[in-house]
Amino acid sequence: MLRDLLLNLKMIMFGGKGGVGKTTCAASSAIWAAEHGRKTLIISTDPAHSLGDSLGMELPPGEPVPVRGVENLTALEINPQAKMAEIKKLTEVNPIGDLGMMGDMMQSMLDGMAGDTDEGVSLNPPGIDETLAFGKVLEFIETEHDYDLIIFDTAPTGHTLRLLGLPETLSSWIGKILKLRLKLGRIFGKFKKLFGGGDDQQDDSLEVLERMNNAIIDAREDLTNPNVNSFVIVMISEEMAIAETGRLLNQLIKYSIPNSNIVINQLYLDPSELCEFCKARRAMQQRNLKKIKSIFQDKLNKSLIEVPLFKDEIREYNMLKEFSKRLIN
Ligand SMILES: Nc1ncnc2c1ncn2[C@@H]1O[C@H](COP(=O)(O)OP(=O)(O)O)[C@@H](O)[C@H]1O
Ligand SMILES: [Mg+2]
Repeated sequence: MLRDLLLNLKMIMFGGKGGVGKTTCAASSAIWAAEHGRKTLIISTDPAHSLGDSLGMELPPGEPVPVRGVENLTALEINPQAKMAEIKKLTEVNPIGDLGMMGDMMQSMLDGMAGDTDEGVSLNPPGIDETLAFGKVLEFIETEHDYDLIIFDTAPTGHTLRLLGLPETLSSWIGKILKLRLKLGRIFGKFKKLFGGGDDQQDDSLEVLERMNNAIIDAREDLTNPNVNSFVIVMISEEMAIAETGRLLNQLIKYSIPNSNIVINQLYLDPSELCEFCKARRAMQQRNLKKIKSIFQDKLNKSLIEVPLFKDEIREYNMLKEFSKRLIN
């Protein structure tokens, strides 16, 4: 039950397609948990930010802000694509970068050496900024902080899945870089001296990478532990969403991310109040709901949470509270 997760876990992630209600579910759950005495941080990692809009407050990127009127609740929007200063430095620390012509020679040497460490090493693989940004979030989770619960409002499916796979990717990338740096350290040291380059920055960044690497390994353990983390899927009652949710579940299994709850949002509930058009929509939803129940509830043992479509947009405290009454019981 979502209630138990909110009262007991350290992390809960909400994910699913765009527009289904992830931010709404995450924000109303965060308010509920905070008001049940848990010191809660809600983090949006969705580049299409709407957490601030949902809570009715300004959220400057990267800056945790206490939610006014809700004790125990802090909100944070991060942009995983932003080049944070520290990250920029990391990806720029290329020991051959400042060696000019000599650099080309070293790169080919590097390529040669990469050959004998599994599938090769690029010092700056594509998507590394985003990867390191997520690494920073994982590092934060694993360091001392006084939040009881961290709720993630995640990006739509494809993006989130990539992020969930990152602990492995990131850790193996950092591992390779560290290995390579150790191997080449002395050679580069010599060249740098020869060409007048200092190695302070390199040493510093090695430490940063190492710390992040350790945090990621710890985070991996937390992300896969059902007593620590749970991923809540949010979906709507449509045929396409069923297939999509199936794929999402497969990915969660692949990365060993615990999942027990699926929210079916925006359901037309009471047929007596409905217009002809809405009755037709409801019939469509009910047909799909049957399928959803037989697949996800009966076969896969998931708890389904049915949430009605509200007349109004769900924004700000009062509506989010109303919403939480239907989401959490
Ligand atoms: N059950 C619901 N009833 C009415 N409006 C809803 C419901 N769930 C979500 N909404 C509205 O739908 C829009 C998208 O919801 P949001 O939570 O931002 O989706 P996501 O984060 O998945 O993109 C928002 O305007 C929100 O207020
Ligand atoms: Mg959202």
